[in-house]
Amino acid sequence: MELDNRITGKTGLIGLIGNPVEHSVSPQLHNTISRLLGKNLVYIPMKVERDRLENAVKGLAAINMVGFNVTIPYKQDVMKYLDEVSKEAAIIGAVNTVKIIDGKLHGYNTDCEGFLRSFREETGAGFRGARVLIIGAGGASRAIAVSVAMDGAEGVCIVNRTPSKAIELVNLLNSNFGDIAYAVGFEKITGQGMLGNFDVIINTTSLGMYPETEASPLDRSVKLKGNQIVYDIIYNPLKTKLLEHAESFGCKAVNGLGMLLYQGISAYELWTGEKVLEAAARKIYRLIEKII
Ligand code: ATR
Repeated sequence: MELDNRITGKTGLIGLIGNPVEHSVSPQLHNTISRLLGKNLVYIPMKVERDRLENAVKGLAAINMVGFNVTIPYKQDVMKYLDEVSKEAAIIGAVNTVKIIDGKLHGYNTDCEGFLRSFREETGAGFRGARVLIIGAGGASRAIAVSVAMDGAEGVCIVNRTPSKAIELVNLLNSNFGDIAYAVGFEKITGQGMLGNFDVIINTTSLGMYPETEASPLDRSVKLKGNQIVYDIIYNPLKTKLLEHAESFGCKAVNGLGMLLYQGISAYELWTGEKVLEAAARKIYRLIEKII
């Protein structure tokens, strides 16, 4: 037997707080990045009960963790225990990454950068001047809508089953980025004609996610145009009914695995202050793809 040298006195701690955390792939993702880059960091899952959130967060600062991710259901609630919050996290109203510097807690939202990096990497395009349809108005939609607006989209249309949430998101975008956003009813995207107005269509709902893999936010009869980009934040399955639908019209179809990967890479870069090169990112992508 050999001595186990994987964790030493100098190992830095990173991790994830949330509830549940059992199904997260973040431990595998971050520990693989550390192995690939030769960093002495270990990433651990930490299930936290709601009435212990404040103690947990203060405890993580007290033990000088390098930083941590925050997942459901604490992305909003964690904000009240932080010392500082980045501009986009403040606009979105959610933090998914915390960096601890000299005992102080700094919050970020890397879903934004993760989404934009994945979109650029996988489509070769950005959002400057683009007309974008976003389906859904939950937490993921807020981060994506803010990213798209920050990246210079010309128009953002929000469609949501619950109209009041779509309107709330439209107001958030318009008060921060000028009058670029509007909402339409969910029934509109099942009709013909309207979808032709968009360069990019993004699904942020769970429609089509395992185990309901036959579901799709778009009716099968809806026609798309080959020059449209369709992005689905779902990564299980890797090819949803929506993406199959998009591919049948020759559209560029992108799944959510890249966003998952790059939100993690962006967090890792914040913690370490070092860039993860594209070649390493691609290698990790291929490894993660195998466990989905
Ligand atoms: P997330 O953090 O993944 O965005 P969320 O905040 O719970 O999760 O948001 C889920 C989104 O998927 C919402 O836009 C939700 O619509 P409602 O606001 O009307 O609830 C949408 N969604 C979930 N199931 C849906 C369904 N069966 N049909 C249409 N929209 C659905």
